[in-house]
Order: sequence, then C-alpha cells, then structure tokens
Amino acid sequence: MSLVTVTELLQKAEQGKYAVGAFNCNNMEIVQAIIAAAEAENAPVIIQASQGAIKYAGLDWITGMAKLAAEKSSVPIALHLDHGTSFEQCMQCIRSGFSSVMFDGSKLTLDENIAETNRVLAVARPVGVSVEAELGKIGGTEDDITVDERDAMLTEPKEAKEFVDRTNVDALAVAIGTAHGQYKGEPKLDFERLEKIKAIVNVPIVLHGSSGVPDEAIKKAISLGVSKVNIDTNIREAFTNAMRKVINEDAKQIDPRKVLGPAREAATEVIREKIRIFGANGKA
Ligand code: G3H
Ligand code: 13P
Ligand code: ZN
Repeated sequence: MSLVTVTELLQKAEQGKYAVGAFNCNNMEIVQAIIAAAEAENAPVIIQASQGAIKYAGLDWITGMAKLAAEKSSVPIALHLDHGTSFEQCMQCIRSGFSSVMFDGSKLTLDENIAETNRVLAVARPVGVSVEAELGKIGGTEDDITVDERDAMLTEPKEAKEFVDRTNVDALAVAIGTAHGQYKGEPKLDFERLEKIKAIVNVPIVLHGSSGVPDEAIKKAISLGVSKVNIDTNIREAFTNAMRKVINEDAKQIDPRKVLGPAREAATEVIREKIRIFGANGKA
C-alpha cells in the first residue's frame, strides 16, 4: 500500500467514533515499533516527524522509512509533519513525499495564521496532501504559567469557527489544557470548551500533548470529537528506560542491538496500549 492522507484516516475515525494514534518517530527502531504495533492491533496509524526529528534523522531517511513501511504493511499508514512552523518546511515535506503536514501558526495573530495556513493549503490540496492547523497555544509542561495565563492560551470556540470558515482546513489542533512533555501533576482538560468547539466547527479535532493524560480523559475527549491523538513523550520514556535498564544491568554491553532491541519492544507495547485506548484496534 502507498501512504494515505490523514484526512482519509480521520474521516473513517469520525464515523467509527474512535481516534487514530499519531506517534512521533526519531529513528528506525521507533518507526518499526509504530508499524509493529499497528499491525499487531490491525489499526490505521499516523507516523509523524517533528522538525527536530527531521534534523536528527534526515528528511529523506524519514520519508524512505515510512514509504517502505507502508509498502510492506497491511494497515493504512500516513506520514505527517508535526508542528511545521514555516511554509518552506511544509513544502519540503510535501516534495519529499509526506502525505500530510501540520502548519503550526499558533504563535501568529489569527489573521496571519489564517493567511499562512491558506498558503500551505493552496499547494497541498492540488497534490492530495492533507493539512492540520493549530489554534490556541498548546505549550509545554515546563511553561511556568498562572491559571489566567493558561486560560488565555486555550482555543476560543468562536475563533475556531472563524478559522475553519476562512481556511476549510482538514484538521484542527486545539488547546484545551494539555501540554507537551511530562506533566508535573494531573492535566485538567477543558471538556466544556471542546464540546463548544466541536458543536460549531465541522472538522476533525486533534489532541496534542496526550502522553500522561489519564486514559479516561482521553476516551472522553474522543467521545466529544477528538479523532487524532498525538503521542511522543510516552514513547520516549518507554524507549529510553528500556535502554537504560539494559545498560544498568550490564555495564559491559556494547552491542547496539542488545540495547535498542528491548527499547523497540518497549515502544511497541506502549503504542499498542494507546491504540487500544483510542479504540482504533481492528479498524484497519
Ligand atoms: O510536539 C512536540 C513533539 O513532542 C516533538 O518534539 O520537537 O523535541 O521532536 P521535538
Ligand atoms: P506528548 O509528547 O506530550 O505526547 O505530545 C506529543 C505531541 O503533541 C506531538 O505533536
Ligand atoms: Zn504537538
């Protein structure tokens, strides 16, 4: 199979009332873990790469690995740029063969975000690449902010409607209280806000910063209209902790396969668990 668009996967997810997992990759072992998990669960899956991942692994390597995975695989796979912050980055990924890109204009004004998202859409649409945008600021768990500051970062439902009306974007990432990275306490999601957004915005909703969000909260967010759930930190934890365990237990170990093999297995297990929580198992 060749790579499919995120739009195709999310349309089915909306109908089936489940969410597709979008898992960040940095290297071959993580790509393999994502595919192994999706195949074991017979689930559609999104492999995504951030600018940092592309810088680390190389754009052509990421595209090459994902394309190979899709060709060999029995499940539908999309390759998505995560948090692209410029028109140029999105174009480079489209040219390389990504089936989907995110243009993250959350640091721009509403008008600028709309204008830049539309620029990306004008190129992506004719070549069959889907586009995710972000409205509101998702931020990181390390951000030291007050409750009022946090509320000011969350997505305004009316703005979300205006954004979608003026772009007709394929998917919208919203800020409803999640953050990227490891949470210090338990994240509190603003479900009321999510409900209001979904009631007036007819577009698949994306949840970022989903590692560390309790399973029940994820399920509730999916029931209220989230159809793409992004996970990175939980994979990093599983992968690196497994490497650390091998090295700690055997300081003389020098075979990368003995260190990275268990890491790949640990990542696969975490991803399988997430796929089941999202209800995407059996949906390939
Ligand atoms: O949303 C952020 C992702 O976790 C990617 O993080 O930029 O460190 O690769 P990164
Ligand atoms: P976490 O690292 O918190 O899972 O967030 C991932 C994400 O949102 C990638 O865009
Ligand atoms: Zn994100």
